Amino acid sequence: MADLELKTRQGFAPDAGHESGPAALPDEIGITLTINGKRQELHVRPWTTLLDLLREDLSLYGTKKGCDHGQCGACTVLIDGERMNSCLALAVTKDGCEVTTIEGLASPDGTLHPLQEAFIEHDAFQCGYCTPGQICSGVALLREGHAKTPEEIREHMSGNLCRCGAYTNIVDAIESVIAKENAK
Ligand code: FES
Ligand code: FES
Repeated sequence: MADLELKTRQGFAPDAGHESGPAALPDEIGITLTINGKRQELHVRPWTTLLDLLREDLSLYGTKKGCDHGQCGACTVLIDGERMNSCLALAVTKDGCEVTTIEGLASPDGTLHPLQEAFIEHDAFQCGYCTPGQICSGVALLREGHAKTPEEIREHMSGNLCRCGAYTNIVDAIESVIAKENAK
């Protein structure tokens, strides 16, 4: 017992004069992101989510904050072409990635992405709050190529909620782009 007490004092107790507890996080960390085609050197706080970086630091308000808990899909962006809930990603973990938000989907000359055109054509939004996330998710879905039928489109878009219930027209919009691509 005496041995154990000695070991505890010598081996595990903090040395006199040294602070105990976890190491402090740096205030900011330097990262590089290519956002909508533009490479940016950024200094971000370690706990800043990609969503907050986009909206609060870079004023890219197209990406919406719904639940902030990974449950609604309103914050969906493309990271290296894959869809992701930006509220669930710490910005520092995306160092070196390419991020595309709704603002980056149209061509530089202003021509809308075919899915943006299709959303307008099919009235696929009401309040529009979910729309940027729906469109980013839909763009990735088209690229993934898994969904062919309305049922499959619904299944693969199920992470994106719409409070207004515009689902039918959203599915029609995505289906119309798939049909146009197949007709080429
Ligand atoms: S705000 Fe990210 S999933 Fe709802
Ligand atoms: S159009 Fe209103 S939440 Fe989808």
